[in-house]
Amino acid sequence: MKKLGIYIHVPFCLAKCKYCGFYSHGGATDAEQAAYVESLVNDIEEYGRVYGEEYIVDTVFIGGGTPSILPSPYIGEILDCVRYHFTVADDAEISMESNPKTLTYENLLAYREAGVNRLSIGVQSLDDDCLKALGRVHTAADFRRNFIMAREAGFDNINMDLMFAIPGHTPETWEKTLDEAIALGPEHISFYSLQIEEGTPFYDMYRRGEFDQVPDDIDREMYHLAIKKLKEAGYDHYEISNAARPGRECRHNLKYWSMEDYLGIGPSASSYMKGIRFAEAPFMEFHENTFEDETSEFVFTGLRKTSGIFFDDFRERFGRDFWDVFGDRREELVPYIESGQLVETEEGLRLSEEGFDISNAIMAVFV
Ligand SMILES: C[S@@+](CC[C@H](N)C(=O)[O-])C[C@H]1O[C@@H](n2cnc3c(N)ncnc32)[C@H](O)[C@@H]1O
Ligand code: SF4
Repeated sequence: MKKLGIYIHVPFCLAKCKYCGFYSHGGATDAEQAAYVESLVNDIEEYGRVYGEEYIVDTVFIGGGTPSILPSPYIGEILDCVRYHFTVADDAEISMESNPKTLTYENLLAYREAGVNRLSIGVQSLDDDCLKALGRVHTAADFRRNFIMAREAGFDNINMDLMFAIPGHTPETWEKTLDEAIALGPEHISFYSLQIEEGTPFYDMYRRGEFDQVPDDIDREMYHLAIKKLKEAGYDHYEISNAARPGRECRHNLKYWSMEDYLGIGPSASSYMKGIRFAEAPFMEFHENTFEDETSEFVFTGLRKTSGIFFDDFRERFGRDFWDVFGDRREELVPYIESGQLVETEEGLRLSEEGFDISNAIMAVFV
């Protein structure tokens, strides 16, 4: 049986953060949440009828939004439904995203019992001024308590989401957050540069001059500082914004970067199944990839990983040599190869740490 990752979207949050462009909203009522879970369960059943026989599910990712806002029995109901309508591997990675303000010892235990074995916590910063600047609903102390509780509840695979280049952030305050995060010892750390997303209140505030964006050179200094400190502490920097203890890479997210099949369930969730990309309302999409789409996506998703892309994998997947397909882009790539930002070996291509700073420009060559 082929392997499948299932993503389940929960579009609710305690309150909408001013910087966040994800599809989610604050203030859902109990009735709205109940109706939502019912519709999710129906969707899972329907997808199970289509794909249940063909695939074995080896990763499930309940994301959002903030899934931990739902009463914990709903998480059990959702996962029971997945197990009922699909075959789920015994060693499947089952991740769930959470927000510090929503976690209690009781619900952490309930998530474990429901089968969640990887907990991702949206910490963002361990500096209360930064949390305030972001408009987060929790403090650093809330998270510290959560982390201890999660360990006590049996979570031995925890991710911390961190952000840098927050207005007012300095490399010194970022370093303190990194030091404390590393000292806590989660298995996985994601570190994102704050993006000022169009359509968010942050974007309007920025346009009105209400805050200054952290300059690009400081943003990059913070990025490279994170990689240096995480590597020194024994984490593998395996994707542009992700580092993990060896063997603790997020298996679900790796599917996105390796173009393996995944099914997204819930509003706005996107899927990639057998070369077709589709997404649910409100961002409906249906696109059958051409050979050109497939080969381009293979490169620019693969180059997000520090290991990059391998020519043998390309040949096996597409039946053609890499440079046979992309030979006409070689000239455009030469300056990046000469500068060391793009590294070519006999086995494949990868971006160097400096290459990640201009990854969009390099990936654009393959579009
Ligand atoms: C969908 S959220 C899930 C976590 C949970 N909702 C929370 O925020 O506590 C995933 C992560 O995306 C990151 N994120 C959201 N908006 C971002 C932005 N504008 N720029 C960079 N990272 C962002 C945050 O680190 C966040 O934890
Ligand atoms: S960052 Fe997390 S909590 Fe904040 S609005 Fe986005 S999904 Fe919700």
